[in-house]
Amino acid sequence: MKTLVVANQKGGVGKTSTLVHLAFDFLEQGLKVVVIDLDTQGNASYTLQSFRSGLVASELFTDVPTGSWPQTGIDVTAPNSPRMTLIASDVGLANLEKMSLPEAGAKFRDAIKALDAQSFDACLIDTAPSLGVGMAAALLAADYVLSPIELEAYSIQGIKQMVTTIAHLRKANPKLKFLGMVPSKVDARNPRHARHLEELERAYPQLMIPTGVGLRSSIADALASRVPVWKIKKTAARKATLEIRALAAHVFEKMEITQ
Ligand SMILES: Nc1ncnc2c1ncn2[C@@H]1O[C@H](COP(=O)(O)OP(=O)(O)O)[C@@H](O)[C@H]1O
Ligand SMILES: [Mg+2]
Repeated sequence: MKTLVVANQKGGVGKTSTLVHLAFDFLEQGLKVVVIDLDTQGNASYTLQSFRSGLVASELFTDVPTGSWPQTGIDVTAPNSPRMTLIASDVGLANLEKMSLPEAGAKFRDAIKALDAQSFDACLIDTAPSLGVGMAAALLAADYVLSPIELEAYSIQGIKQMVTTIAHLRKANPKLKFLGMVPSKVDARNPRHARHLEELERAYPQLMIPTGVGLRSSIADALASRVPVWKIKKTAARKATLEIRALAAHVFEKMEITQ
C-alpha cells in the first residue's frame, strides 16, 4: 500500500477537492482505496459519505490491544465488496492536538501498517489547514505528500513554511517524498495568478506540478453533489475533467503503485 497525504496549512486551497478526485479516479483504475479524513471540518467525509467504514479517524490514534488493530470492517479482497472505504472525521480528532507528536506519530504509523495488512493499494489522507499534530503524524507515516496551492499572496506566503515543515519531518521519515505543489483554482485570465505562478516556478523549479487545476465552478458542484466532476453533465465540466484526470495520472505514476 502506498500512502499519500494532501497537506497545506492554508485552508480553501483545494486540498479536499484534490483528495476526493484522486480517490474516485484511483477507484476507477481498479485500486483498492482507503481514505482517512483527519480534518474536523469533515469535508471529505461529506463528499465520500457513502463509503463510510466502521472506523472513525480518532480511533487510529487510540490505544487498542496488540493484534486487534483498526479493522475497517470491509474485506476489499472479497468479490462484490466495495473497493473504497472512508475512515471519517469525528469530534475525537480535536484531542489530537493534546497528544505529543512522537506518541501520535507512532500510533498512526501502526494504524497505517494495519490498513496495509488489509490489502489496500492506496491510502489517501486529507488534513486540516494547520501545521498541527494531525498533519505531522500523517507526514511521519506517509510515503508521499502533495500540496495544492492557490495563486494568491496569502497562500504563497505560507508555502515556504510548508516546504520547511516537510523537509524537517523527512529527517524522521526519510521515505517521505514531496510530489510537489499543485496550482489550484487558477484563473487563466487573472494577471496576478500568472505572475504568482511565474514567481513560484522560479523559486521552486523542482516542486511545481505541471498539471494544475483551473478555477471551475463545476468542481464545487461535484463536491456538493458527492460525485467526481466527470459525472457532472455540463459542458463546462469537460475542461475540469481533463485537468483533474491529468493530475490524477501524474500522481498515480509518481506513486508507483503496484496492485
Ligand atoms: N478548481 C476549483 N475551482 C473552483 N472551486 C474550487 C476548486 N477547487 C475547490 N473549489 C472550491 O473551493 C473551496 C475550497 O476547496 P477545498 O478543496 O475544500 O479546499 P481545502 O480542503 O484546502 O480547504 C470549496 O468550496 C470547493 O468547492
Ligand atoms: Mg479541506
